Amino acid sequence: MVNMEINLASIGMEKGRQYETIITTNNGNGSKNAAPIGVLCAGDNKIICRIFKGSRTLDNIVREKEFVVNITHDPELFTLSLLKNLPQDHFNENLSIKCADAYFKCDAISFTEAVKQSDPIRNKGEAIVFKSKAVDLVIKNPVKAMNRGFGYVIESLGNFKRFDLVDDAKKEEYIIQFKEAYRVVLKVGRKEDIKAMKEIKKELLKKGCDL
Ligand SMILES: Cc1cc2nc3c(=O)[nH]c(=O)nc-3n(C[C@H](O)[C@H](O)[C@H](O)COP(=O)(O)O)c2cc1C
Repeated sequence: MVNMEINLASIGMEKGRQYETIITTNNGNGSKNAAPIGVLCAGDNKIICRIFKGSRTLDNIVREKEFVVNITHDPELFTLSLLKNLPQDHFNENLSIKCADAYFKCDAISFTEAVKQSDPIRNKGEAIVFKSKAVDLVIKNPVKAMNRGFGYVIESLGNFKRFDLVDDAKKEEYIIQFKEAYRVVLKVGRKEDIKAMKEIKKELLKKGCDL
């Protein structure tokens, strides 16, 4: 099914939320590249990405001004894309990944330098933030774009259930894990996930946890 009127809500993308996708780009030498990248939904047909300098994906997008966002829940595709690259026979001629459930083609419309002091991995990670317009959406199977929030909710619930059964060292570990989960879900999660995390936090506070 090809949609001319693009609305990213049709693949479950809500404005203001971040989704984990695989972005595919042209390397400029005839080969194609795939990398897992978080995509912030900025409206019906707009997205924003923040990509660290040094990545091939960023170089390709700055050069070509176009790329494809692939929607999949296949862990193998994410893993291969991160650890090496997807083998070239996984790509369609139009850059999309053959077994993605859906994909949309994007035109980059603006680039901004960004230095984020608070990034947990790099102290002063240099990145480019860029806004893009989705120009072509293809849905092959009904799918919702992958959001990390729900996994954290399930993990936090599992730890919560075990909380009273474990020793103090393990409790401390669970609290550290919960704080990180809470930070991520508030940043990228859907409103339902945020609500759930707030409820779990309330219960942990009742147990006297230092959150
Ligand atoms: C789920 C997931 C989301 C990611 N999101 C981003 C992102 O938004 N920006 C970024 O710079 N790197 C992100 N990464 C890391 C890149 O995928 C990684 O740096 C990759 O090696 C870049 O590959 P490339 O050099 O082929 O572009 C993410 C990784 C994962 C697993």
